[in-house]
Amino acid sequence: MKVEKICCIGAGYVGGPTMAVIALKWPEINVTVVDIDDDKIDMWNSDDLSQIPVYEPGLKDIIKQTRNKNLFFSKNIEKAIDESQMIFMAVNTPTKQTGKGAGMASDLTYIENSARTIASFANSHKIVIEKSTLPVRTAEKIKEILSESKNKFTFEVLSNPEFLAEGTAIQDLFKSDRVLIGGESTKTGQEAVQSLVEIYERWIPKTKILTVNVWSAELSKLASNAMLAQRISSINALSALCEVTGAKIDEVSNAIGYDHRIGDKFLKASPGFGGSCFKKDILNLVYLCQFYGLDEVAEFWLHVVKINDFQRERLAKKIDNYVSANNLNKEVGVLGWAFKKDTNDSRESSSIHITYSLLEKGYKVNIYDPKVSKNRIMEDINEVRNFKKTINPDSIIDNIIIHNSIKDLENSSLVLIVLTEWDEFKDLNKSKEDKIIFDFRNILEEKENIYRL
Ligand code: NAD
Ligand code: UGA
Repeated sequence: MKVEKICCIGAGYVGGPTMAVIALKWPEINVTVVDIDDDKIDMWNSDDLSQIPVYEPGLKDIIKQTRNKNLFFSKNIEKAIDESQMIFMAVNTPTKQTGKGAGMASDLTYIENSARTIASFANSHKIVIEKSTLPVRTAEKIKEILSESKNKFTFEVLSNPEFLAEGTAIQDLFKSDRVLIGGESTKTGQEAVQSLVEIYERWIPKTKILTVNVWSAELSKLASNAMLAQRISSINALSALCEVTGAKIDEVSNAIGYDHRIGDKFLKASPGFGGSCFKKDILNLVYLCQFYGLDEVAEFWLHVVKINDFQRERLAKKIDNYVSANNLNKEVGVLGWAFKKDTNDSRESSSIHITYSLLEKGYKVNIYDPKVSKNRIMEDINEVRNFKKTINPDSIIDNIIIHNSIKDLENSSLVLIVLTEWDEFKDLNKSKEDKIIFDFRNILEEKENIYRL
């Protein structure tokens, strides 16, 4: 099949950057990214490139080169589906909030709605690609929805999960460790796989493009995230043991990482992993294991999340114990709201949970982040407040001050807590010695007034 037009449903952290890179590599293909969120599309089309909704190093440059040439952000979903031969689905798949599997399983409403939209507007054969992270065997459900299409056109469903990490998305897309494509073994299934392989082959070496069956592709994505998160929980669990024994977690993780069978990546102790995916993907995996009666396997993976929660609460308590023991005012400065550096994304950030825990303990909290907006920070806190149905919620909100610069924040509090590893926080090493700094990212050198993990 000659691909001339590609559509992507979902203009978020995955849809935006992945389609921008495809458009850059394929000037002869028109790529249209659509979304039900009109404001988001307007932001992607903003003349002021600092207003595009995703902050990623290198993204603005690509948008500048491709937007309105062969990359389009559009509200006209019907037209984009109608015209495209290949349709990516990169919509959100959060944890279900109600119904069967609530709190564990993936909410597939958005993906199913996307499939329904494709079924309604398709006017020819389409290759439909799962880009979102999905439970194994979702393709079956998507095929079922597409087969109800009134038009009776044919569809091939592929699984092509995305492995980019935020903050390094463009670099990851340019030099992917691997591209995974799952398709059916039928002739038409393999033809569809080949069409997608050809797209990636332009910049990814053939040896890194793995073609597998659909279920393996779907499950490999959940498994990859679970393995990565498991390493972080392993090292964070050991950080608690280091603290009581006098061992240093960075030295331990360095020593472990020297073993080439283990490797040195993803062994950095932290205030717990954040981001929109690790927790939801592990819970989804746990749900799948329970569904298939594999209770011991479910329990194993659930502990990765439990240790993450433990680490956050442990560190909030550590601050509180220090403040009480030294008779200090219950006021702290939180440095960093994003779940990691170089992104404006704060979904599931440990900063939210540690801050909320301190607010509940009666603290006044000053907050600064270079990229996360004040509105987003307040929305994050309000979401927890609503979820926990906090008694006397106003006292919580009254105790938050969001600052515009690191200097303002430094002046506001005696006790500072580094929760995101932004490069600009490394200068705190030079700050006044009368500050007490808890560096939960281990980016500062140890000093008398600086406590690392
Ligand atoms: P996101 O929330 O940033 O973007 C999803 C977008 O889809 C939203 O803008 C939403 O409005 C839109 N949408 C939802 N339903 C729609 C519909 N029916 N029609 C049109 N638009 C619709 O989410 P994201 O971070 O880009 O993640 C998307 C998927 O990719 C998830 O499954 C996630 O697990 C996976 N993933 C995310 C990352 C990441 O770094 N964020 C990396 C790899 C995989
Ligand atoms: C992660 C995976 O790395 C991607 O491969 C995957 O595509 C993506 O999830 C997804 O499916 O959404 P992301 O969450 O963007 O990417 O960022 P990571 O670099 O994995 O960091 C996740 C969290 O773990 C951050 O809070 C980070 O600070 C923390 N982390 C990471 C540690 O605490 N220690 C480490 O050693 C590494």
